[in-house]
Amino acid sequence: MVLKVAERGRVSPFIVMDVMRSANERAKKGAHVLHLEVGQPGTGAPAGVLAAAKSAIESDRLGYTDALGVADLRQRIARHYAGTYGIDVDPERIVATTGSSGAFVLAFLSAFDAGDRVALASPGYPAYRNILEAVGVEVVSLEVGADSNFQPTPEILDRAGAAIDGLIVASPSNPTGTMVSRDELEALVRYCADRDIRFVSDEIYHGITYGSPAETALAFTADAVVVNSFSKYFSMTGWRLGWMVVPPDLTRPVECLAQNLFISPPTLSQIAAVAAFDCKDELDGHVNRYGRNRALLLEALPKAGFSRLASADGAFYFYADVGDMTNDSHAFCRRMLAATDVAATPGVDFDPGRGHQFVRFSFSGATDEIAEAAARLHDWLA
Ligand SMILES: Cc1ncc(COP(=O)(O)O)c(C=O)c1O
Repeated sequence: MVLKVAERGRVSPFIVMDVMRSANERAKKGAHVLHLEVGQPGTGAPAGVLAAAKSAIESDRLGYTDALGVADLRQRIARHYAGTYGIDVDPERIVATTGSSGAFVLAFLSAFDAGDRVALASPGYPAYRNILEAVGVEVVSLEVGADSNFQPTPEILDRAGAAIDGLIVASPSNPTGTMVSRDELEALVRYCADRDIRFVSDEIYHGITYGSPAETALAFTADAVVVNSFSKYFSMTGWRLGWMVVPPDLTRPVECLAQNLFISPPTLSQIAAVAAFDCKDELDGHVNRYGRNRALLLEALPKAGFSRLASADGAFYFYADVGDMTNDSHAFCRRMLAATDVAATPGVDFDPGRGHQFVRFSFSGATDEIAEAAARLHDWLA
């Protein structure tokens, strides 16, 4: 018997997960592995969230919720837009999702048809490409580099050739941590508005910035799909909760898709997450630590031999050009793990074309571990 396996499922693996598995196997055998491969806070959820979760568990009322999320959470997220960006957002346009990953599935299914063309920066977060390809959307890779701060520009879009139906922008970005300025964001939004291109703004690293705060695409348009999450700034990766702000024309399609695909996002997480917005001191403390880790690596990585780093103005990553050391970043990361027990992610995850010359280091962990990793890398390459 030869049963068919759908083409749709033949997407690339998320290589960082494979790296994590090898790193964990070494750790299980007793090695002191330093995890600079994982893109998640080393901290747990803030205390206020834990307290809210405990009382929600005791109430034992964790049934399904409205597919778009509980009203309290949607209203609290709307207040967050007023407080953080000075923007009024109707809670009816806010959709709680199963992580931002769930938001991307809903966004892409509701906004694009199979055969549409959606542009995104390469290097970029690999799941955009893989989810789009799984649903039959053609991915238009915008090869960006240090000259445009690893972000798309209207000129780069002009050079992309045939018309596109969508553009995904992440500022701060994963894997580079680079950001678009307020003016650059506005220019990209206008470019899309003038050409009926759906703008998708991944704002998951908002709150984790080291200079100017990040601007939301909602400052310039109500037509964008804005995606955010409790995973990064709010330090709640495993709670699997994110949200979207959707334009009025997509609200009902997103609702129908969400009802059928997910019924509702995790109820416990939704109830507890309302408290996350009042835990700013604790969460800003994490951002201060990322800032210290960043400063440490900014000094130590060039001394160890990694001198070509993207300007990480946000998120918690350094994307290092290692083209002078290797032409195979996957093998390089494997050798690095074997020799130093420092795990990092090969750039091929983020840029299939040129990522073989790049490595991503995450500095979301504990500062002493980041310092130890820098010392081990220095000794390895000395
Ligand atoms: C840019 C970006 N978007 C989205 C996600 C997905 O996060 P989650 O599904 O946990 O919200 C990640 C995770 O690393 C990311 O880096």
